[in-house]
Amino acid sequence: MTKEQPKDQILQDAPMPVRTPRLTLRPLQAGDGTRLYNAKLETWDSLSQVFSWATGAPDPDQDEIYARKAQAAYVLRQDFSLVGVENATGRHVLWAGLHTHNWSLREFQIGYWVRESAQGYGYAKETTNALVRYAFNMLGANRLVACHVDGNEVSKHIVTSLGFEHEGVRRNSLLFAGGVVKDAQWYSRINAKNLPVINVAWG
Ligand SMILES: CC(C)(COP(=O)(O)OP(=O)(O)OC[C@H]1O[C@@H](n2cnc3c(N)ncnc32)[C@H](O)[C@@H]1OP(=O)(O)O)[C@@H](O)C(=O)NCCC(=O)NCCS
Repeated sequence: MTKEQPKDQILQDAPMPVRTPRLTLRPLQAGDGTRLYNAKLETWDSLSQVFSWATGAPDPDQDEIYARKAQAAYVLRQDFSLVGVENATGRHVLWAGLHTHNWSLREFQIGYWVRESAQGYGYAKETTNALVRYAFNMLGANRLVACHVDGNEVSKHIVTSLGFEHEGVRRNSLLFAGGVVKDAQWYSRINAKNLPVINVAWG
C-alpha cells in the first residue's frame, strides 16, 4: 500500500485479522454481542468513568446491534472496530478502534479498552504497537492520533512509550463520561518507525 492508492484500493487491501504474539484482532461481527456485553458488565465501573457511551447499564441487544453495525462498517471500510481474542484461550479481552476521521487525509484515531480481568498484562500496548504498523503499512495512513484526559496515566504511558509525539492540549476536544466535554492531551505518529520489536502479521 502506498499513499497514492485511492480508497478503492484500500477496500481490496485492509486484510484481517491482525495477529500479535498473544492476540488475534479482528473486526466485530454478528454474534459478538453477548461476549461484548459480558466484558462490559465486568468492566463497567471503570468504563463509566471514562467513556461517554458507558451510561446507564449494558444491554446485550444493543451490543449485538453494535457488533453487526461494526461488521458492516468494516465491509464498507468506514471504520475499524476490532475485538482482541486471546490466542491461548479464545477469550475476548480487548476492544479497539481505528476510527476514520478523514479518508482523503488518511487520518485515523486509535482507542481501546481492556476487560477488567485482562488488564495489566500488556494487551493494550501490544495492540497499539500492532495497529500502528497496520495503519501505516496497510491503510496508507498519514496520521494516527490518540488522546487522553489529564490523570489517565496508563493511557499516557502507552502512547508515549510507543513513540507517539505530544502535540498539545486541545480544549473541549473530548466527550467524556457523563457527557462532560473536557480538554484532552493529543498525540500523533506519522510513521511506524522505531516501535518496540514484536511479531505482527495480517491477513
Ligand atoms: C487503559 C487500559 C486500556 C490499559 O490496558 P492494559 O492492557 O491494562 O495496559 P497495558 O498492560 O498494555 O499497559 C499498561 C502500561 O502502563 C503502565 N502503567 C500501569 N500503571 C501506571 C501508572 N499508574 N502510571 C504510569 N504507567 C502505568 C504499565 O507499566 C504498562 O507499561 P509497560 O508495559 O511499559 O510496563 C485499561 O486499563 C482500560 O481499559 N481502562 C479503562 C478504559 C480506558 O481508560 N481506556 C483508554 C481511554 S484513553
